[in-house]
Amino acid sequence: MIVLGIETSCDETGVAVYDTDRGVRAHALHSQVAMHEEYGGVVPELASRDHIRRLLPLTRRVLEQSGVTLGELAAIAYTEGPGLAGALLVGASVAGALAYALGIPAIGVHHLEGHLLSPLLSQRPPRFPFVALLVSGGHTQLMRVEGVGRYLLLGETLDDAAGEAFDKTAQLLGLGYPGGPAISRLAEQGTSGRFRLPRPMIASGDLDFSFSGLKTAVRDLVRHTTLDADTKADVANAFQAAMVDVLVAKSVAALDRANLERLVIAGGVGANKQLRAALDARAAARGFDVFYPELELCTDNGAMIALAGALRLQGSGIRNQESEHPDVAEGGRYGFTVRPRWDLASLAPPAT
Ligand code: KG4
Ligand code: ZN
Repeated sequence: MIVLGIETSCDETGVAVYDTDRGVRAHALHSQVAMHEEYGGVVPELASRDHIRRLLPLTRRVLEQSGVTLGELAAIAYTEGPGLAGALLVGASVAGALAYALGIPAIGVHHLEGHLLSPLLSQRPPRFPFVALLVSGGHTQLMRVEGVGRYLLLGETLDDAAGEAFDKTAQLLGLGYPGGPAISRLAEQGTSGRFRLPRPMIASGDLDFSFSGLKTAVRDLVRHTTLDADTKADVANAFQAAMVDVLVAKSVAALDRANLERLVIAGGVGANKQLRAALDARAAARGFDVFYPELELCTDNGAMIALAGALRLQGSGIRNQESEHPDVAEGGRYGFTVRPRWDLASLAPPAT
């Protein structure tokens, strides 16, 4: 079964062709980072307009590269939410129109389900069940994952998301957007231990997170220190060390709590080198397995959306647009349904 995946929830236009027999046949991404950079963050209206410009040419290119014809597609999967309403609408309307023209289902996918399942596309995919740490620009959650659509929320951030904390700290240090990669690069040049920042809620006994205090601590530090180049690198180092300590400690606690030995990391912050090194070290010491998506599939992309769509379609036996199946209830009727706010734990497995 071959599925086209479309991702337009935020500031990247992602398109991919996923084949359940042969894996990802082609994928491409257009990042809007350069466009939003001068504003220090994503401008929603500019994002929507750019998705409109990019999506069709990118889709043509990916189809060409994949060698797959439109007639071979079994479905079109698109990000239905959560995300920016206008940006989501671009993907939903293109997916719906194309699916209608081809007489195949349009499947609305939860963006975080895409992230969460993306390690299944890697060379060494995890088996279910596992604990997933979802760390993106908008979310920080620990989930117990039993299978596709079977997600139990174990803990989440009470305020800022991990990626958001990276981005805000980068802003305080005068680095560009997005902040994660910039902090990570600078932190490598910093001296460990010159500054010590708080590890919020590390000993709270639950699996929730809080990062706004860490950001405030960075703001206070920056206000009372002369920010020469070395100092900036040392602050970036201290911030990243605090962040990594918290994420590792809570992930290990979640594995203990869930009584599982497989940990999956997903979402943009999962690309962080220091986090990966710390998790690998802890996994070796404690005897659990840790799984990551391929680096290029950590941040937003179309492949994870195509995969999630294909798994839902496979599990459900949906074959055509007439289906009244819950997974295509909205998209299958080709409505432009988007859900800017959408709780991952509310998903159900693909019904059969
Ligand atoms: O998953 P993602 O691409 O988009 C959302 O769904 O939010 O995540 C984007 C976030 C941004 O906050 C970005 O700063 C962060 O992931 N990020 C990183 C790294 N690469 C991206 N954070 C830390 N280290 C990185 N290498
Ligand atoms: Zn994302």
